[in-house]
Amino acid sequence: MTAAGDLKDLERRDWAARSGAWDKWSDALAKLAERMNAPLVEAAALSPGLRVLDLASGAGEPALQIARAVGPSGRVVATDLVEDMLSGARRRAAAIQLNQVEFQAADMEALPFPDAGFDRVTCRFGIMFAPDTRRALSEAHRVLKPGGRAVYLVWSEIQRNTMFQVIDAAVRKQLGSSPLDRETSPFRFADGTLPGRMTAAGFAQVSERVIGWSPEIESGQPFWRPQLDMIFGDRLADLDAASRTALDQRVQQGFARYLKGSRYFLTAETRLIVGTKPG
Ligand SMILES: C[S@@+](CC[C@H](N)C(=O)[O-])C[C@H]1O[C@@H](n2cnc3c(N)ncnc32)[C@H](O)[C@@H]1O
Repeated sequence: MTAAGDLKDLERRDWAARSGAWDKWSDALAKLAERMNAPLVEAAALSPGLRVLDLASGAGEPALQIARAVGPSGRVVATDLVEDMLSGARRRAAAIQLNQVEFQAADMEALPFPDAGFDRVTCRFGIMFAPDTRRALSEAHRVLKPGGRAVYLVWSEIQRNTMFQVIDAAVRKQLGSSPLDRETSPFRFADGTLPGRMTAAGFAQVSERVIGWSPEIESGQPFWRPQLDMIFGDRLADLDAASRTALDQRVQQGFARYLKGSRYFLTAETRLIVGTKPG
């Protein structure tokens, strides 16, 4: 087991190295992101004027969508452990003159905010990367107002998420290891333990919902490129051109079994966990 402090350093280093790819692909993925955000945004029960803290905001999902939902009278504080990860979010907010969102580097395990200042805390695909989950959840609880709500979206098992599964298998073959092996892996809470941890941190009415869908993707384009760059790109930077081509071929071969006619039929699954700070 890696010590929590060392894990944090590894996360900080890796996300900083990936930040350019997240900014680069964020606009192209915006429509897909909106669909994935929808259940989270709905569970957050947003209304104009609310103050929302979004954790691990990366290139702005779901912070920017939430900012639109709370309107000019609301406020969204979009945070991330890695300042560079917020570059894309800042750029995208400025492009649409979304003024009710602000950006701040912040570790979700030690939030630089006073107690009870937010109506909602949201976090899409972030909680798994904080080594000390207990601290992260108790910090979210602390900064929420009584009656406020926290909403987390996490990945289900890798076997239910074809995109990750195929790319991970190809990277593993090529490099002999994968960043997904770490304790702080994207699939850490696929085991359904996050609701119990939220209850232990003081949240009430905690619920978890599994959300599955079946992406269908037209063939003829390297549709996996964004995920390959955004999750594994830092590990691939040193590959020579021949190894990179070999990796692309492995990925393409991995997806071949999901191709029927002119379309790839994939599966994807997430878990949405919601809890309330007792009033
Ligand atoms: C998979 S990305 C998710 C970004 C965005 N929420 C999305 O769904 O597109 C994970 C993010 O978690 C951030 N992160 C990792 N550890 C963190 C921590 N302890 N506190 C805050 N953010 C963290 C990373 O820097 C990265 O931006």
